[in-house]
Amino acid sequence: MKKHLLLVAMVILVGVVRADEGMWIPMLIGKNYEDMQKKGLRLTKEDLYSINHSSLKDAILQFGGGCTAEMISADGLLLTNHHCGYDAIASLSTVERNLLDNGFWAHSLKEELPAQGVTALFLLSMDDITDRIKDATGNATGEEYTKKYNELKKKIEDSASNKGQYVANVKDYFNGNQTLLLIYRRYTDVRLVGNPPKSLGKFGGETDNWMWPRHTSDFSMFRIYADSNNMPKAYNANNVPYHPAKYLPISIKGTQEHDYAMIFGYPGRTNRYEVSYGVNLAINEINPTIVSIRDLRLSILHKHMDMDKSTYLKLTSTYASVANYWKYYIGQTEQLKRLHVVEQKASIEEDFTKWATVTNNGEMGLMKRYETLFTDIKPIIKEPYYYSECFMAPSITKMALGTKGLYEWLEKYETGNFKQLTDSAYQDSIKKYVTMAKNIRRAGAKTFETGTDKEMMAEMTKKYYDNIPKQQLPDIYETTILKKKENTLQTYTDYVEKVFSKTMFIDSNAFNEFCAKPDLNKLKKDELMKYVMSFATNYEKNYKPKMDAYNLKKADLSKEYVRSLMTWKKNTNFYPDANSTMRVTYGEVLSYEPQDGVHYNYFTTIDGLMAKYKPGSEEFDVPKDLVELYKAKKYGRYADKDGTLHTCFITTNDITGGNSGSPVMNANGELIGTAFDGNWEAMSGDIAFDKNYKRTIICDIRYILFLVDKMGHADNLIKEMDIRQ
Ligand code: ARG
Repeated sequence: MKKHLLLVAMVILVGVVRADEGMWIPMLIGKNYEDMQKKGLRLTKEDLYSINHSSLKDAILQFGGGCTAEMISADGLLLTNHHCGYDAIASLSTVERNLLDNGFWAHSLKEELPAQGVTALFLLSMDDITDRIKDATGNATGEEYTKKYNELKKKIEDSASNKGQYVANVKDYFNGNQTLLLIYRRYTDVRLVGNPPKSLGKFGGETDNWMWPRHTSDFSMFRIYADSNNMPKAYNANNVPYHPAKYLPISIKGTQEHDYAMIFGYPGRTNRYEVSYGVNLAINEINPTIVSIRDLRLSILHKHMDMDKSTYLKLTSTYASVANYWKYYIGQTEQLKRLHVVEQKASIEEDFTKWATVTNNGEMGLMKRYETLFTDIKPIIKEPYYYSECFMAPSITKMALGTKGLYEWLEKYETGNFKQLTDSAYQDSIKKYVTMAKNIRRAGAKTFETGTDKEMMAEMTKKYYDNIPKQQLPDIYETTILKKKENTLQTYTDYVEKVFSKTMFIDSNAFNEFCAKPDLNKLKKDELMKYVMSFATNYEKNYKPKMDAYNLKKADLSKEYVRSLMTWKKNTNFYPDANSTMRVTYGEVLSYEPQDGVHYNYFTTIDGLMAKYKPGSEEFDVPKDLVELYKAKKYGRYADKDGTLHTCFITTNDITGGNSGSPVMNANGELIGTAFDGNWEAMSGDIAFDKNYKRTIICDIRYILFLVDKMGHADNLIKEMDIRQ
């Protein structure tokens, strides 16, 4: 057993990589090309990534900041996940016209609905600028390195953006050992084209989330609009559909086990080079902290969403994302333990240290330094999580927190810090801070609901008190909340009532009036502002500096570690951790054994979906139309050879959050589905890839088209796609 573990560990940590593991940089995909061909790929290198002519990369985009989407027509039609469009769909829904519950299909361009705030980012080029960074930073580490690095980063980004024409990002790879400059074009006129009813788009809800077997049609469609030159332009009725340099043809031939599968997308974050000490901290401190706070947040949100349909629409998107990562951290902890990831990593580290002791002129003590770092941070590690997850859980907190900048500036001003300020400079600063305060308040107000926020604030304030060591608490507990009072929920409820009656942040008129004539005294008397400032100052004065120092130190250590690993295993083709930039992963369609004696097939069908059907259930209901379609069994050309309709399938591709909505392509680069999840048995995947268990869960393109066609009757959409039989 131990030996087997060791072997797995070597594969995981030092990247003796199988085809399926790895999130490869598209620009450097040439290194994997032969291997891809061996696995079945029938495209050329230039088809995958080229800066001279159109290639696959041009059909893939980052959607709305945290997801992926792909172009599926010459006229700017895109496919992404239902959960990626969820916020936009919910925001466009009202109790009377509930697109989320009923589904939505635009039968002409005119019917498409502007999805405010949704952006589409297309990658134009990537360039290696590692040497420039090295020249500018020399041997610097820690704060000095970060300062020099950030200066150069800003300079490069500013000049590459060409006065805002492009989005330019300098990004680190291999934990700071390589740096690339990425240039994008961002479109902001994006419109909702279609989505299945929530019962199907989120079929299985939180129960099935992160699990296989799955029957969710997790997709939605949007369209990108541009000006008459195909360039980005803010929403305008005269804008026209965008014409992508490349869009994906669709194959409805169906997939067989072992078929080649390839995914392009924007994976957000992995931590594959994390050390055993860090994994221990996640298992024992960080993950349980997040889960326990979210447990409480979810029960409060759920209660209020159940009471009223408009509250439901207001909070459902927040609920879904809180629930998603609540379950994620439960699963990650469970699998890190089950797969003995700490032990695996520790044994690699032992070997590494042996090698390093011999090679690097004696013991360089890297692991010891890691150990010290983690031991030192442990006593306060809950603090940042309680701050962001608990204190900031109520929308009302965020609504006031945006005024902190103004508060502090006014305070400095009044104590005579800016004596030399001219009147116009004074006005400029005020304007800057007021705008910030207004924007942040407005963003928070979108999810503000009095009943929910009152209960959330009372419960969260108590939870903070109950779980953080007394000497780490903000002073508001002693000076106000618990002054001569007992630590009971009633005390907090009463306190919150008082705060709500003595704050201007809830009332837009009162707040705007204040913004027109900002006054420090007014802020100092505002009960909500007092609360927020007490927490924020406590965190920023006492804990943020420690967290910043820890993060800088950790960045230095992991840079050194990854650099050394690459020297140690110099013949290995390493891949960098995910960092929200475009990556390619390739693998195969494959079933698996989740536990001894159990086999999981590689696909699911509508028969399985109907077997889960529970009329009236929040998570397992299905619309009548689908029941009818199922009874009639008219799947047309979307049926599999076996006669039924396949709903989802799995592959061995290496993806993570951010890949949601990614195109899954066959050996010819044709679209066969959209990726939407990972499986329970591999929830430790962001920290350690497990080749036996790791699977990507995909919605079969045939199920998607079936719903667009037979349920949405959107012939207009079917016609504009290139569907190959
Ligand atoms: N687990 C999926 C992901 O992170 C999200 C699924 C959203 N659905 C849900 N039931 N919350 O990509």
